[in-house]
Amino acid sequence: MSQQEPSFEHDIRPLFRSEDIEAMSGLFDLSSYQDVRSNADKIYEELSDGSMPCDEAWPAERVQLFESWINTGYLR
Ligand code: HEM
Repeated sequence: MSQQEPSFEHDIRPLFRSEDIEAMSGLFDLSSYQDVRSNADKIYEELSDGSMPCDEAWPAERVQLFESWINTGYLR
């Protein structure tokens, strides 16, 4: 079940729009497994307090999906 054991390629990568990747490219690459993994805590913080994306916060279940990707060990 992807909800319980999400993987980057299947579940997480598709959540980032091309404008997200572009906007954040100066800090990290949201299309890169390694970059998202390395910055996951910071990214989670911004997603969960609604600061990012800059135009519209993610719904709670999306933020939870990102959190469970962290908690299940960053499956690729
Ligand atoms: C899912 C999409 C996005 C994620 C996960 C994300 C994540 C982040 C993170 C982790 C930071 C660093 C915050 C810090 O170090 O304090 C940041 C900063 C920033 N992001 Fe994004 N971002 C996303 C989309 C966007 C979009 C769409 C825009 C605007 C077009 C944007 C504009 C910025 C700007 C201007 C900063 C600079 C620092 C600041 O003022 O917080 N981001 N983002």
